[in-house]
Amino acid sequence: MNTILVGAQWGDEGKGKIIDVLTEQADYVVRTQGGNNAGHTVYVGPKKYVLHLIPSGILRKKKICVIGNGVVVDPIGLVKEIDTLEKLGTKCDGRLFISETAHLVLPYHREIDAQRETVKGKNKIGTTKRGIGPAYGDKVARVGLRLIDLVNPEVFAEKLKVRIKENNAILKVFGAKPLSYKKVHDEYRAAGDRLKPFVTNTLILLHKAMAKNASILFEGAQGTFLDIDHGTYPYVTSSNTTSGGACTGSGIAPNRMDRVVGVMKAYTTRVGEGPLPTENAEIADMLHGMGREFGATTGRARRCGWFDSVATRHATMVNGIDELAITNLDGLDTLDTVKVCIAYRIGKQKIDYIPNDVAILSKCEPVYVEFPGWKTPTDKVKNWKDLPAKARTYLKAISELTGAKLAIASVGPAREQTMFL
Ligand code: GDP
Ligand code: IMO
Ligand code: MG
Repeated sequence: MNTILVGAQWGDEGKGKIIDVLTEQADYVVRTQGGNNAGHTVYVGPKKYVLHLIPSGILRKKKICVIGNGVVVDPIGLVKEIDTLEKLGTKCDGRLFISETAHLVLPYHREIDAQRETVKGKNKIGTTKRGIGPAYGDKVARVGLRLIDLVNPEVFAEKLKVRIKENNAILKVFGAKPLSYKKVHDEYRAAGDRLKPFVTNTLILLHKAMAKNASILFEGAQGTFLDIDHGTYPYVTSSNTTSGGACTGSGIAPNRMDRVVGVMKAYTTRVGEGPLPTENAEIADMLHGMGREFGATTGRARRCGWFDSVATRHATMVNGIDELAITNLDGLDTLDTVKVCIAYRIGKQKIDYIPNDVAILSKCEPVYVEFPGWKTPTDKVKNWKDLPAKARTYLKAISELTGAKLAIASVGPAREQTMFL
């Protein structure tokens, strides 16, 4: 059984938690796109982990984790992540494999990312400043460096020299300081030596695993509306966050995939700029007041709003979502009334899809239906039938509006706060 798990909203849907739960039944967990812009939170008992590049499956012993070719890897960040996990008692040796064709994030990518944001001023994207856009830019422009280069000292030295020269010229245009070739080289080569044992041909590794009937879980990063093609461009990330990205980012063909699981919150959040039709200050204040919805990577307060079924229905269409995992139901436990957006109004027109022009999407007024709140804590509920009837009605309604089968409901960050339907 090969399962693609994607975020059905704007990221941070709780993918890390659901991956951790589903990993119990999987043999391999594979990241296929994005980089350390991702922040996937997993609780194992009282211990909190935030994974950025390493698949969340690493927290379950004996599972094999793969960073696929479609990921952009910051080697310095990855070494830190491996070290942090090892300090907390999780060993990566022999369980983590990194594609030799995955591209590198280099210091000039991070610097250019930050400079571009500054120049954009009020039109900024609100990126994580992890260099993701410029790294994918170099990949597409065919001037990127890859893991296969990093672990080959001569090749790396030669290619890096050329790239530092060009990027220092770009940094000059921004009025930023040039980078020292030697400093970057030495730092990255040290990381390269550390990562070498993990670097391999992951395409062959995964196909051999499939030949032995292994079960693979593809861990999406970001969310549908941050997709470079299908998101709210230009307020997006630079990879395909939708289900197709799992195929191109791993080398596993679409017809070898068995199921697509879409993860969504019982409300909506977004971090960074760009349209968010159901944004609502009261919901944001309530959730922030509960200490929730602060970014796992940058610590920024997430923007919050009501559940948007126009968006999640669109996500079902683009990703081919078969099953839904709805998280953070407990966030709505205290409300008298819970609203759900079922269409957008633009002037006199009513639409039920996401318009491609962000200027138009920004002007869309949500059309809401209301549900009575259940006003009962749900965080200790273990079974579907023990959920308050009004909470069940709400979950059923949002899955029906989304157009996919409800398979998992989550009422807290812990493994045991999960219900299967
Ligand atoms: P990801 O990027 O999709 O993995 O999501 P993040 O980890 O960035 O953000 C999701 C947040 O919600 C994390 O703090 C999780 O621990 C938390 N979380 C996930 N599911 C639930 C849930 O059902 N209830 C509560 N209270 N928190 C949850
Ligand atoms: P996970 O995997 C939420 C957002 C940034 C910004 C835009 C572009 O944890 O769900 P980038 O640094 O990628 O160029 O930023 O995308 N973004 C995320 N938002 N969750 C994420 O990952 C995100 N990764 C990037 O905030 O708006
Ligand atoms: Mg996150």
